[in-house]
Amino acid sequence: VALFAVAVRAQTVQVDGNKVVEVLTRLANLSDHENPAVTRILFTPNDMLARNFVKDLMREHHMTIREDAMGNIFGRWEGSDASAGSVLTGSHCDAIPLAGMYDGTLGVIGAIEAVAALQRAGFKPSRPIEVLFFTSEEPTRFGLSCSGSRAMAGALTAEALESKLDSQGRHFLQVANEVGYGAASTSDMLAATRLKEGQVDYFVELHIEQGPLLEREGLDIGVVTAIAAPAALEVTFHGDGGHAGGQLMPDRNDAGLAGAELALAVERHVLASGSVDTVGTTGTFEIAPGAINSVPRDARLAIDIRDIDGPRRDRVVAAVLASAKEIAERRKVRYTSRVINQDPPASSHEDIVSAVAASAEALGLSTKRMVSRAYHDSLFMARVAPMGMIFIPCKNGWSHRPDEFSKPQDIANGVSVLALTMARLSGG
Ligand code: GLV
Ligand code: MN
Ligand code: MN
Ligand code: MN
Repeated sequence: VALFAVAVRAQTVQVDGNKVVEVLTRLANLSDHENPAVTRILFTPNDMLARNFVKDLMREHHMTIREDAMGNIFGRWEGSDASAGSVLTGSHCDAIPLAGMYDGTLGVIGAIEAVAALQRAGFKPSRPIEVLFFTSEEPTRFGLSCSGSRAMAGALTAEALESKLDSQGRHFLQVANEVGYGAASTSDMLAATRLKEGQVDYFVELHIEQGPLLEREGLDIGVVTAIAAPAALEVTFHGDGGHAGGQLMPDRNDAGLAGAELALAVERHVLASGSVDTVGTTGTFEIAPGAINSVPRDARLAIDIRDIDGPRRDRVVAAVLASAKEIAERRKVRYTSRVINQDPPASSHEDIVSAVAASAEALGLSTKRMVSRAYHDSLFMARVAPMGMIFIPCKNGWSHRPDEFSKPQDIANGVSVLALTMARLSGG
């Protein structure tokens, strides 16, 4: 009961949404593409600038900074009970190619602003409050999502990480060492990143919904109850190629056409689940050599499959892998297939769900309990601590595109709910 005593009066928490937007806009300019598009890939110069930007903000708000071997950045606001596990909040600042300025960043910049609002309100935390900048939630560089949180939760093996290379054929560890993170070996790096027992008492993440429901229903805050199960596959087809004029159709084994058939098979298997909750996307499809007058010799597809029902998602994954084999045999091409990740769904913890709902209610905001169809670092943090998420509406549900947008008022609402939630969870 003490835990959920109202530690700070809702009205004393003041958040200026326009100011948060102004900070998010400055961060958005640290990008490989021009505003409004944001592209910020792990350990590139703009990612490193974003890290410094966030560390400066943390320092401005009197947080003590610690960075782990994988580059996860923690800003700590000490509590009166320094030996207690922390209330941890955070998200990511990496952005997929041509993304928008709110995905992830809101949960970092907004969290720092939530801490600032609590400090202005005179709140004194009991459990320490920590803001976290996760390394590489997005899979862009190494094909692996949530690298930082997987490692923190002990859900990443050295073999798995070492099997992933970037487009220049380099390993995570190599690149991490070059920018001042890393360790002597991948296993040392992972061991050093793993959270210790009792280090975190609660984890909560603020994020834009990335779907249309809150806006459509005119609601202020999404209280996330679960995160859908994501899977990622990579399939390659290899044929013999040839001259687009000279090689007659019966003599071809066109890897590009095998890939095209597989992309359509993904859609077919997903639709066959009969549920709108099953989704599948062939998000990259590369053919080589990539010349108009050359029969494609290689095709490489990256396939994303998700569902709120884990076993049903697994059946679609199996069907897609079976199709890859069948298509390769029929079209006489060689093939490889690889499951990059196939993660179970995660449930929010009832303590955080109630803390978020009560905080929203104290602010007079309307709420909806909902499932997150996007994945987040919260998926892995749920393995080490009670987890919860706060969603705010975003325009038309758009995300992973430059016109991603949330209103300053919704941002202020989300940050205020996060502040009150952390105050409740911290006690004080
Ligand atoms: C995260 O960006 C996701 O793809 O859900
Ligand atoms: Mn994203
Ligand atoms: Mn995100
Ligand atoms: Mn994401």
